Amino acid sequence: HPVTLTTTDGGRLEFDCAPGRSVLEAAAEAGAALPASCRRGTCGSCHASVTDGPYDLGPHSDQALPPDGRERGEVLLCRTFPRGPLTAALPYEQARVLHGAVPVRAATVTAVDPVTPDTVRLELRLDDPDCQFDPGQFMKLQTPGSEVKRAYSPANTGNWEGRLEFYVRLREGGHFSSYLADRARPDDRLTVHGPQGAFGLHETGLRPRWFLAGGTGLAPLLAMARRMAEWQDPQPARLFLGVNEPRDVFGLDELAAVAAELPGFRYEVCVRWPSPDWSGPTGTPADLLAAALPELGGAAPDLYVCGPPPLVDAVLRTAASAGVPAEQVHRERFLAT
Ligand code: FES
Repeated sequence: HPVTLTTTDGGRLEFDCAPGRSVLEAAAEAGAALPASCRRGTCGSCHASVTDGPYDLGPHSDQALPPDGRERGEVLLCRTFPRGPLTAALPYEQARVLHGAVPVRAATVTAVDPVTPDTVRLELRLDDPDCQFDPGQFMKLQTPGSEVKRAYSPANTGNWEGRLEFYVRLREGGHFSSYLADRARPDDRLTVHGPQGAFGLHETGLRPRWFLAGGTGLAPLLAMARRMAEWQDPQPARLFLGVNEPRDVFGLDELAAVAAELPGFRYEVCVRWPSPDWSGPTGTPADLLAAALPELGGAAPDLYVCGPPPLVDAVLRTAASAGVPAEQVHRERFLAT
């Protein structure tokens, strides 16, 4: 079946999809590597919107593609099987489609610092100093002697010193978590696959940019804010970071540094379960968003949200009920894959 994919900047990809092939596989066979991660319907990173044509949707998790999205024609391309000519809109620019293999490079661990009881800041240096990527993209990290790769988004911006900075939430029993908690040391060698992924800043004039982060979902949003500071972007920007408890707060020095460099950047931190000595806002970034949107008086900002699926879905609902157009909401779900 003929498939046509369009990008946000007017690009078009056209290829045929054989029966039994997913759109993602058919695109790869035609030489176009679309942003994707798990390839089995659990992470949501290959989401797109079908604009025309019949298709079947294979098994996937509701967290990666919620039922209301499905009803609006949203799909996961790794689980989309055309039943006739199909047209779909990709939520990113043409430059995010790789033509060729994902870069694979060696790196050395330069720092492993716990920043909360269960979050670690990991710094790497690539052997190759060319460390260019768009803020919001992710890298897959692989420990020596293992085939397992885990996707994390750098919190820093592209550079020519091979520097990469990640915030990793330690998950009980997680492969990379166990490595970080038990064995990781400076001078360890890791393999880095990437950059990959479609999440990133969109150029939409002077429209305000609001960033909503759940926990380590801060990393790609911090990278975007830092990029804005480096380029002295003129858009007013706000960042809302939500964590569970006060002891989970991290990244304050980094956010303060952005605020010092970028006029028009403000940030707030909220906790869901405050302790008696917490004096900041309580709730989630979606709650702060609901309270802050009316202040703008109808000029809806571009929203960038990254965090666990319940936060992403709460932000999508809040944005929709406040009348923020769906195309102004950019999201990345953090899922164990
Ligand atoms: Fe399709 Fe993960 S790549 S859901």
